[in-house]
Amino acid sequence: MTGIICGTGSYAPSYVMDNNEIATMVETSDEWIRERTGVVTRHIIKDETTVSMACEAATRALADGDVDARELDLIIVSTISSNIILPCTACEVQKELDAEHATCFDMSAACSGFVLAYNTALAYLSGGIYKTALIIGSESLSNLTNWKDRGTCILFGDGAGAAVMRAGEGKTYFPVTCSDGMKGNALTCQSRHTLADTRHMADPEYSIQMDGQAVFKFAVKKVPEAIDETLKKNGVKKEEITWYILHQANSRIVEAVAKRLGEPLEKFPMNLQEYGNTSSASIAILLDEMKRDGRLSGGQKVVIAGFGAGLTWGASIIEWR
Ligand code: ACO
Repeated sequence: MTGIICGTGSYAPSYVMDNNEIATMVETSDEWIRERTGVVTRHIIKDETTVSMACEAATRALADGDVDARELDLIIVSTISSNIILPCTACEVQKELDAEHATCFDMSAACSGFVLAYNTALAYLSGGIYKTALIIGSESLSNLTNWKDRGTCILFGDGAGAAVMRAGEGKTYFPVTCSDGMKGNALTCQSRHTLADTRHMADPEYSIQMDGQAVFKFAVKKVPEAIDETLKKNGVKKEEITWYILHQANSRIVEAVAKRLGEPLEKFPMNLQEYGNTSSASIAILLDEMKRDGRLSGGQKVVIAGFGAGLTWGASIIEWR
């Protein structure tokens, strides 16, 4: 018994902010951002919230998989940027979908979140505990961004992606996942709920802060290692992998990972040009795009790999049906 993705969906806010607009807020340029990150535009919430985007992506994934919300046993939402703390975002999705039988909880693992949500659902489904699961990555990083810090505000965007999984016959591939809390200082964001008043809302300390070069070095070393280890653990050869779907942080990170793995860049699809870094939503949005445009098809083996704050990282193999 294993877990099989049978439907995907995504949602991106309609407001699109391009690099030129960012250049009106901080000293930067379209050329610099494109060259150093690959990002050209990002979608930014106006009326949407993390909850509303999660609900929309989930509705689309259920429709795509032809799954009734009442069949869901489990809903996991990965997010670090929800508009609500209580109830959890997953319970809000349950309410919106009327998924009355689902057990719901959120997961906070930043840019590794979707991979960890997938692994968690996979464990429940392959273990026979649940039959149908919905996993969602939804982020409004614009709410956590310091729009005066050119080292970070150029990178992030908002959006949500979802996948529906069913238990079914097949091989379960074992993931490789790692965390290193000792290096957590490279990428931080203090909780806005640690102070009793609201003066801190404009304080950069309560926005994302990042040592960009440290994160870059960590990602290009640890992600290929985790992918190699995952392939080895499951007896899968690189030639068998059709796609490596990496967290969409930066095109230079994706290129460096491809080079270290000795695999052609064509096997590493990217959509960060349009979305920027949407943290735990990025892999799910890309999976949905690739399913809809036909790049994903039955029989393919796909690696998904996440990395980010924590530090956390990991890779899993999905056999597409
Ligand atoms: N526009 C123009 N100049 C800039 C900008 C900008 N937006 N940002 C920094 N600079 C300047 C710096 O001030 C510096 O100037 P100096 O040499 O005069 O001091 C120069 O550009 C080089 O700065 P670096 O920080 O060395 O630039 P780098 O090439 O490392 O690029 C970047 C910065 C894009 C942040 C890069 O380090 C990076 O992509 N790191 C990975 C970050 C990432 O992907 N994080 C997310 C992963 S985890 C997650 O998703 C949460």
